[in-house]
Amino acid sequence: MTQTKPQVQYRDDYQPPHYWIDTLDLDVQLHDSATEVVAISRIRRNGEHSEPLELDGEQLELLQVAINGVDTSQYQQTGSGLVLSQVPQEFVLTIRTRISPAANTALEGLYKSGNAFCTQCEAQGFRRITYYLDRPDVLARFSTRITADAGLYPYLLSNGNRVGQGRFDDGRHWVQWQDPFPKPAYLFALVAGDFDVLRDSFTTHSGRAVALEIYVDKGNLHRAGHAMDSLKASMAWDEQRCHLEYDLDIYMIVAVDFFNMGAMENKGLNVFNAKFVLADAHTATDNDYLDIERVIGHEYFHNWTGNRVTCRDWFQLSLKEGLTVFRDQEFSSDLGSRTVNRIRNVRIIRGPQFAEDAGPMAHPIRPDAVIEMNNFYTLTVYEKGSEVIRMLHTLLGEQAFQRGLALYLQRHDGEAATCDDFVAAMSEASGRDLSRFKRWYGQSGTPVLTVTDDYDAARERYTLTVRQHTPATLDQQEKLPLHIPLSLALYTAQGEPLTLMAEGRSVGPVLDVMEAEQQFVFEQVPSRPTPALLQGFSAPVKLNYGYTDEQLALLARCCLDEFVRWDAVQMLINKSVVAHLAQAQRPEAPALPRALVEVFRAILEDASLDRALKAEMLTLPDLGSLLELFERVDIDVLARVHEGLQQGLADALHPLWQQAYADNLTPAYRIEHQDMARRALKNVALGYLALAGDEALVQQQYHQADNMTDTLAAMKGAVRAGLEGGQAMLADFENRWRHDGLVLDNWFRLQATAPGEGTLERVKDLMQHPTFSLSNPNRVRALIGAFAGANPVQFHRRDGAGYDLLVSVLEQLNHSNPQVASRLVTPLIQFARLDDTRQAMIRSRLQRLMALPELSRDLFEKISKALA
Ligand code: TRP
Ligand code: ZN
Repeated sequence: MTQTKPQVQYRDDYQPPHYWIDTLDLDVQLHDSATEVVAISRIRRNGEHSEPLELDGEQLELLQVAINGVDTSQYQQTGSGLVLSQVPQEFVLTIRTRISPAANTALEGLYKSGNAFCTQCEAQGFRRITYYLDRPDVLARFSTRITADAGLYPYLLSNGNRVGQGRFDDGRHWVQWQDPFPKPAYLFALVAGDFDVLRDSFTTHSGRAVALEIYVDKGNLHRAGHAMDSLKASMAWDEQRCHLEYDLDIYMIVAVDFFNMGAMENKGLNVFNAKFVLADAHTATDNDYLDIERVIGHEYFHNWTGNRVTCRDWFQLSLKEGLTVFRDQEFSSDLGSRTVNRIRNVRIIRGPQFAEDAGPMAHPIRPDAVIEMNNFYTLTVYEKGSEVIRMLHTLLGEQAFQRGLALYLQRHDGEAATCDDFVAAMSEASGRDLSRFKRWYGQSGTPVLTVTDDYDAARERYTLTVRQHTPATLDQQEKLPLHIPLSLALYTAQGEPLTLMAEGRSVGPVLDVMEAEQQFVFEQVPSRPTPALLQGFSAPVKLNYGYTDEQLALLARCCLDEFVRWDAVQMLINKSVVAHLAQAQRPEAPALPRALVEVFRAILEDASLDRALKAEMLTLPDLGSLLELFERVDIDVLARVHEGLQQGLADALHPLWQQAYADNLTPAYRIEHQDMARRALKNVALGYLALAGDEALVQQQYHQADNMTDTLAAMKGAVRAGLEGGQAMLADFENRWRHDGLVLDNWFRLQATAPGEGTLERVKDLMQHPTFSLSNPNRVRALIGAFAGANPVQFHRRDGAGYDLLVSVLEQLNHSNPQVASRLVTPLIQFARLDDTRQAMIRSRLQRLMALPELSRDLFEKISKALA
């Protein structure tokens, strides 16, 4: 909380620390509201200077300070920490503090999740445990001794290896941990509780046995198997694809119910949001299984990209996150469907990431200025960061990329590095000049590529003119041309690919777009071709090319790049939406474009198409992505067009949807990619059949389903289409799952995203549900986050009631959990594309929040930018 105006930190102001900390011995005596922490560190002055030692600390009660074993009062406590002025060149500092985990609702530092103690230290949570140099470039060897009641907390866990344990007469016990790898404080973890433990082991490439342990709430052991399989698959994948081996003798994962984010890669002791660990056929959907595999992989891959080589400062966050997202995406793609993974990631970039780029929080993947670091764990740093790594991979190729990664890791092992270090290693290993490419790290906003072409029949020459332009963003007016890899192919009217010829020889598919405007000439082109542009989504840009409906239909049918096949359908849909918008101002539903119906028909009838890809091709973009097509648009009108298209496709192709449904029934449930693909396609068909009024079928699926994917698809179909049976399904589902918060989150989410005027009142009622709680981030995201973020029509109600609901929740979370509040505010600050009336209503709400007496830094940063 702040009284004074929050300070901005700038990337350019980076200074190395005045002191180093070589070792830290922690002694933690756990009690709910009075935990005592003794921190003994060996500190050493960095260079010749007389600067004081300034330790970070928040919400700590200071009990004792000693230098070389002698108590001292030569310190000052400031609002943000502890300042010691005249300290020796090298010394041992002892600090004793008291904290209250039970009162910690922010879930940062040491807190209680249910009956267990756990920690979350990234980015700056360690300073809520003790006074420390809480910055990622200070790496120390940690040893941690935990003492707690033996009955309540039989498991006492921390990083590294267990080196001692014992019992006291008073019913308490202790365990001592030693982490051999120096690490920054944000990777520290401590967990104490009573759990069920799933144990397994993994033998590394070089033959070392690693103990694997997954800690879950009692009674949940049978739901940890998939997480364990995913962990072993991650370890094997990193060895095979990147030649990276695990380095400790033990790897632990703990699942907790109260967690602000997805999971955390603490060295040797990952802490996970339970939703990314627990799964069984009855409670988890196919997508839950895939999410678990992805997040387990992500945290495991951090062991090298993040832990062994960490970040010099938090402005470099994408150094570990963009790279690790790229690694988890490759992992998921190697294990499952590469195309489907690509499509799903591109949907995120084109929807919420492009919206972030266009909003008040626009920032480069390596930000320049930050008020609250927690606000920069963003789609831009993570997902666009991964796209930047992917572009490097596209430019360099797999082999040179792996050489570059190996060079980077070997050169900086045990150190804190920068994005510049990473690009330098990539450049050296490949011999490529990446100086212009580096602009991706410092420039925010979404580049727009405008492509025009010219065909010279007499000379059989085809010329592409490519223009790039990045619109100004709130944080940055001037934009420079970027190095953009543009992957393309050329197709004949018969759908045959042409060999690309330039300057007399055959050339590869990737064009280096470097300038604001550039021409590319292809020779020996026998007739006017159709270009397949941005194959595989080779760069995170918006593409403008004047495709005709016929060209898009051709690419959807024939392109060898499956991403382009999908993208051609998306472009066709987008074209329909744009074309219909003018017409849609009138109340009657617009006519359905023939070209779209025919393309959908062809997809449904194409027996050679992969089912999972088919399901993606037949799924319309959501409203959020469609918003990005316009500078300004009335959301109600856009929603009407969107619904009209969906309804039209449901009716026009009714027999084919029935056929697709019947053809893709699966026998007894198995978690297996072929079956998942069948279910995906069957359930897309079911969604259209529900719109077409096939209530009996939807009912039948709901009542006969033997897995959560099918149960939810039926209930969702019924609720979205407003079928009569929907309410009964919701009641039945609640009855069956009222005891299980994670399962009930699906139920909250579905009702929060339901169409219709009654939704807002329903959301208010659900906030009183016994399973709902504002103190559990998963519940808040499922109900409030889904309503504000994924139900634009009801959230943006003309009477402003949607805004008022969100504001009242934010007022409460501003105090109890600023991080969660700040993530929830997103739909309220991204209003640039809305009409004037709504913008004005939103502004008045934001001004009300701005005037709160104790506005957190998190909300202050976002709201002040939105109002600027
Ligand atoms: N490093 C975590 C990741 O894997 C991110 C994270 C987890 C985090 N918990 C957090 C960031 C809490 C900030 C606050 O991506
Ligand atoms: Zn991460």
